[in-house]
Amino acid sequence: MSRPRARSLVLCAAALALAIITQRGLAQSPAADPDAQARAAFLTVHRVLTSPRCRNCHPRGDRPLQFDDGVPHAQDISRRSVQNGMPCSTCHRDRNGELPGQPPGAPHWGLPPASAPMVFEGKSPRELCEQLKDKQATGGRDLPALLEHIEKDPLVLWGFRPGPGRTPVPVPFAQFTAATRTWVARGGPCPE
Ligand code: HEC
Ligand code: HEC
Repeated sequence: MSRPRARSLVLCAAALALAIITQRGLAQSPAADPDAQARAAFLTVHRVLTSPRCRNCHPRGDRPLQFDDGVPHAQDISRRSVQNGMPCSTCHRDRNGELPGQPPGAPHWGLPPASAPMVFEGKSPRELCEQLKDKQATGGRDLPALLEHIEKDPLVLWGFRPGPGRTPVPVPFAQFTAATRTWVARGGPCPE
């Protein structure tokens, strides 16, 4: 083989290899794959929903939780105490108490219903993702309704301004809603 010919073959092979590698890289990077991007965005949604301010009202059991470490609510508060005639509004008003230790507050303060308890506590990203798309578990809410809920519900908004002595949700509100929007726009693909 002549030298120039051999050289152009080598160059050709190198260019081909480069093209294959770049293609692969693009296919795997979330920037080029909207579903991967949506699955990655869901990790932000999961991080917010399982953070203390949200998790405390979305517990596994019938009792709301308190504080960052999620201890059961004092005074044996539960769905049962509400049934027995002590609504949450006995202590929780529609805005935060002014001093640490006073009850936080927002309109319609309460737990999700026992029929659709909307548990976030302890859920893996995949479990939470599947649950949010299961209409039995969401009380009939679909993904657009979920987006509307997290953008407007006073209890969600409260988590970003939880009053004195409480750590807000660890993700800025705009970042949380943008991540939810990205995930919903792709029909809610779930992480592995
Ligand atoms: C004071 C208790 C309380 C707090 C705090 C709270 N929630 Fe909720 N959440 C509820 C109740 C009650 C419902 C059901 C309301 C309904 O069906 O209209 C609900 C429903 C939801 C839903 C709908 C679930 C589904 O399956 O469709 C989402 C999402 C949600 N909350 C997210 C959050 C996020 C995010 C936070 C924190 C930033 C938060 N919640 C904080 C009480 C709370
Ligand atoms: C007897 C009064 C009383 C009743 C009734 C009551 N709470 Fe509370 N709750 C409090 C007080 C006081 C605090 C604040 C404790 C602190 O921060 O030191 C609190 C804190 C909480 C928190 C913690 C917020 C956080 O993330 O740290 C949640 C969640 C909560 N209550 C939910 C409920 C729910 C839901 C109901 C009704 C099922 C309810 N509470 C009924 C007095 C009450």
